[in-house]
Amino acid sequence: MKILVTGGAGYIGSTTAKALEESGHTPVILDSLLSGPRVFVKDRIFYEGDIADRDLVARVAEEHPDIEATIHMAARIVVPESVEQPYEYYRDNVAKSLELFDQLVKVGKPRVLFSSSASLYATVENFEVDELAPLDPASPYARTKQMMEMVLTDIAAATDLRAIILRYFNPIGSDPDLESGIYVREPSHVLGQLVMAARGQKDAFTITGTEHPTRDGTGIRDYIHVWDLARAHVKAVESFDRVLATVDAPSTIINVGTGDGVTVRELVKSFEIVFGASVPLKEAPPRPGDAVGAFANVDKARDVLGWTSSLTIEDAITSALAWGKKRQEILGYD
Ligand SMILES: NC(=O)c1ccc[n+]([C@@H]2O[C@H](COP(=O)([O-])OP(=O)(O)OC[C@H]3O[C@@H](n4cnc5c(N)ncnc54)[C@H](O)[C@@H]3O)[C@@H](O)[C@H]2O)c1
Repeated sequence: MKILVTGGAGYIGSTTAKALEESGHTPVILDSLLSGPRVFVKDRIFYEGDIADRDLVARVAEEHPDIEATIHMAARIVVPESVEQPYEYYRDNVAKSLELFDQLVKVGKPRVLFSSSASLYATVENFEVDELAPLDPASPYARTKQMMEMVLTDIAAATDLRAIILRYFNPIGSDPDLESGIYVREPSHVLGQLVMAARGQKDAFTITGTEHPTRDGTGIRDYIHVWDLARAHVKAVESFDRVLATVDAPSTIINVGTGDGVTVRELVKSFEIVFGASVPLKEAPPRPGDAVGAFANVDKARDVLGWTSSLTIEDAITSALAWGKKRQEILGYD
């Protein structure tokens, strides 16, 4: 199958493109390179441009009439930036996605897989959330994802568009061949910070928030190996029509996580075992907007999508550390 991947130069998009290739499919990348590096596109079929450029989307469809589905990952994704620049986030993630969806329907490419986020969920008592759990998106970024879920649901109900919405939990690690991974210069997420502290690029790893109502007071997340996440997309495009027939609806939402909640202290412990040395730690109060967290109930992914994660958190940490060493060679910066 040929699959259009918007945002295919990004962290998850480039890994998903590779997972598609490994399953015998051909990704067609559409990316503006707003943030994704050109080197991640490699020798793939690539259109450099904006998702809201209707002429470009029409040209892609004309040049690749055999595209079976679109994985729409292109977005702005930095939470604190979304607080400072809401206009850019609503414009790019909401208004531009609307143009893309409408154009995809017009050019006869109605199957859409959408990257949503676990950051939509409200905190619940035991931290496990299924797709019907209450939502409380805490940032403009998360609200753009919630809006797009509503938009897709409504457009699917009214037009030929069909949508599978994947709510990703916390992707970590890199592709197994170390050709892509986290590319931001100073990663703000927890594993990136740990890798930097372990490699001496920072003096310590700071645990932000130690009085949360979790088993050890630190935040809880569901860390999923990005390669498992990429494989979930392959499964979803391969079984797109069957999934929607199973739920008997024109659109559906599926959690993509491991089903295991891991606290920050537990993550640090696993990291130290894999790394083989302890990491200097500091503790600090939670940052504004820091959520206690959640982990996925993955029953629907297993029963409807036919997918479960298979890699461990240690696999993901090993892969992140290996990428930390390798990325200078690929990106030209450490
Ligand atoms: N990384 C995470 O932790 C996480 C968690 C949940 C959901 N997601 C979602 O997954 C998707 C991919 O995330 P990622 O981590 O790979 O991010 P990323 O920033 O690495 O990739 C996004 C890509 O989209 C491109 N892009 C942005 N705006 C564009 C536009 N208007 N037209 C064309 N291309 C555009 C960027 O150049 C970039 O290559 C995003 O939709 C994100 O919201 C990510």
